[in-house]
Amino acid sequence: MTRRDFIERTGAASYLTLLGLGMIPEANSQPLDLQRGKADKKIIILGAGLAGLCSAYELTKLGYQVTVLEARSRPGGRVWTVRGGTTETEIGGPSQTAQFDKGLYLNGGAARIPHNHETTLHYCREFNIPLEIFMNMNEGAYYYSDNGTGLLANKRVKIREIHADVRGYTGELLAKAADQKALDQDLTKEDIDKLIAYLKEECDLDITKKYKGSERHGYLRQGGYGDQIPQLAEPHSLHDIIAGGLFHPAFSNVSEYTFNQQPVMLQPVGGMDAIPYEFAKRLEGKIQYQTEVKEIRKTQPGVRIVYKDKAGQEKELKADYCICTIPLPVLRNIQTDLSSDIRRAIDFTSYMNTGKIGLQFKRRFWEEDDKIFGGISRTNMDITQIFYPSYNFMGKKGLLKGYYNFHDRAVKMGNLSIAEREKAALEQGSKIHPQYAAEFESSFSLAWQKIPYSQGGWAEYTDVQRKRLYPALIKPDDEIYMAGEHTTHLTAWMAGALESAKAVVDQIHRRVNAS
Ligand code: FAD
Ligand code: ALA
Repeated sequence: MTRRDFIERTGAASYLTLLGLGMIPEANSQPLDLQRGKADKKIIILGAGLAGLCSAYELTKLGYQVTVLEARSRPGGRVWTVRGGTTETEIGGPSQTAQFDKGLYLNGGAARIPHNHETTLHYCREFNIPLEIFMNMNEGAYYYSDNGTGLLANKRVKIREIHADVRGYTGELLAKAADQKALDQDLTKEDIDKLIAYLKEECDLDITKKYKGSERHGYLRQGGYGDQIPQLAEPHSLHDIIAGGLFHPAFSNVSEYTFNQQPVMLQPVGGMDAIPYEFAKRLEGKIQYQTEVKEIRKTQPGVRIVYKDKAGQEKELKADYCICTIPLPVLRNIQTDLSSDIRRAIDFTSYMNTGKIGLQFKRRFWEEDDKIFGGISRTNMDITQIFYPSYNFMGKKGLLKGYYNFHDRAVKMGNLSIAEREKAALEQGSKIHPQYAAEFESSFSLAWQKIPYSQGGWAEYTDVQRKRLYPALIKPDDEIYMAGEHTTHLTAWMAGALESAKAVVDQIHRRVNAS
C-alpha cells in the first residue's frame, strides 16, 4: 500500500468513525425546519444585521407580522462592504468617503466564510449567492519581524521558508530524542520506528535523520530550459529564525491551524454584503431604515419600542414580542425595562477593539513582482497583517487590506486621525512592500470601537463573563428575546448571528403554538 493509499483509506475511515462516535463535533447547522402553525402575532426586531434579518426572514416564512427597526440607512450591520462613495463618520471623528475605483472593495467587517459554517453557507445556497475561494493562507506571502536580531530581523521572508525550516528542525530534534530513547516510556519500539519514518517524510529529514534544507523552502534559481538547472536555497538556521523573532505569536496559531480558519475559506463574489442585501430583498417594506431605537419597554404582556424616525420624530410601536439584536455596547445607552441580570451582561461583557484599512494601488505589485495571489502577510508591527485580495487576479489596479489589528494595537491605530492611520499603514507596510510609495492611490480606514451602532468588533467573553453574564442573554425576559453573535458560542462570526436568529425564532414559535 502506498503512503497516499494509507492516508486516504485510514484517514477517511477514522474520520467517519470518530464522527459516528460523536468525537468530532459536527457543524451546528441544521436549517430551521419548523412546522407552520399559529403565527398571529406582531414581532418587532431591533437591528437589521444578520441576526435581525434572519429572524425577520424566518418569522415571515412562518406567517408572523414583523417590523425591523434599523438605525443605519443600509442592512447588514457588521457585514459591510466599503466601495467608492461609501461614507462613514466615526464617533468624534470627521466624515470619510471612500475613493475606491469601481469593482474594488473592502469588506470592512466580515470577510471570510469558513467551510464548516454550514448556517452561513445554507443561506448563500438558498439565495444563490455565488461564492469564490478566500485565500486565508499563502506560503508565498511574507513574515516580517520587526526588532529581532540577526540575519532574519527587519527583513521580509517568505512564509514557506520559515514553515519548511521550522518543521524540519523540530522534526530532527524529535527524531534525535526518539533515537536517544527519550520517548521510550510512552512508545513501543515499533511505534518509534514508525514515528521516525513519519518525521522523515513530514519534515523532509535525510537518511541520517537530519534536516539539511528542503525543496519546500524554495529555490535560489528555479529549473527551466536547457542549462537552467534548479538551485535550491540554503535553509535558515534555527538560531537565526528564533533570534529574528519569528517564534513570536504574531507568526503562529492562526490561519491554517484554527478550526474556523482552516482551508478552504470562501467569500461571496463582489462583496460580503450580498448576504444581507439578499435577506433585505425578501423583506421589502418590513425594514424601517434610519430609525434609531431609544427605549425598550415591557407592557406585560407585550412590548413598546420608542424610536426616532428618519425625520427625527419620536414615535412608538407596540407588539407581542421583540427580538433585540443591538450590540451590547450600544444597548448600554438605551433606556430599557430589561431585567437586572440582562443589564449586568449588557454593561460588563467585553468587546474586541479592531480596525481595518483598505489601500488602493495603481498596480497589483504583490501579484506582478512578488507572486502573491491572495493570502496574508504577517508581522509584529502595529499593522499586524496585510491581506491580499482573493478576487480580480491579474486586474489592473488592486485594493489591499493594509492592516487588520486587534486589542491595544487597534486602539492605538484607531485613536490616530484618518490621515495618520493612512501614514502609519503606508510606513509599516512599505517595509514589506517597498512598492507602496510609488503605487498608492487612496485609503479608507475604520476603527470598529468608534463606529456608531456597533461600538466594538464582537463580544469577547472572559471565562468569568461567560459563566456569570452570558446565561442571562439566552433566556427570554418576558416577551423580549436577545439575539446576535454575542448570544452564542460563535462570537465574531456571521454564523453566530444566524444561529442565534434560528434559536429565538424556534423559541418564539414554540411558545406561540403552546399558548
Ligand atoms: P450587527 O451586524 O451589529 O447588527 C446589529 C444591527 O443593529 C446593526 O445593523 C445596527 O445598525 C443596528 N442597531 C444598533 N443600534 C441600533 C439602534 N439604537 N436602533 C436601531 N438599530 C440599531 N464573521 C464572519 O463570519 N467572517 C468574518 O470574516 C468576520 N470578520 C469580521 C471582522 C470584523 C472586523 C468584524 C467587526 C466582524 C467580523 N465577523 C466575521 C463577525 C460578523 O460580522 C458578526 O458576527 C455579525 O455580522 C454580527 O451580526 P449581528 O446581527 O449579531 O450584529
Ligand atoms: N471572525 C473574524 C475574522 O475572521 C474575527 O476575522
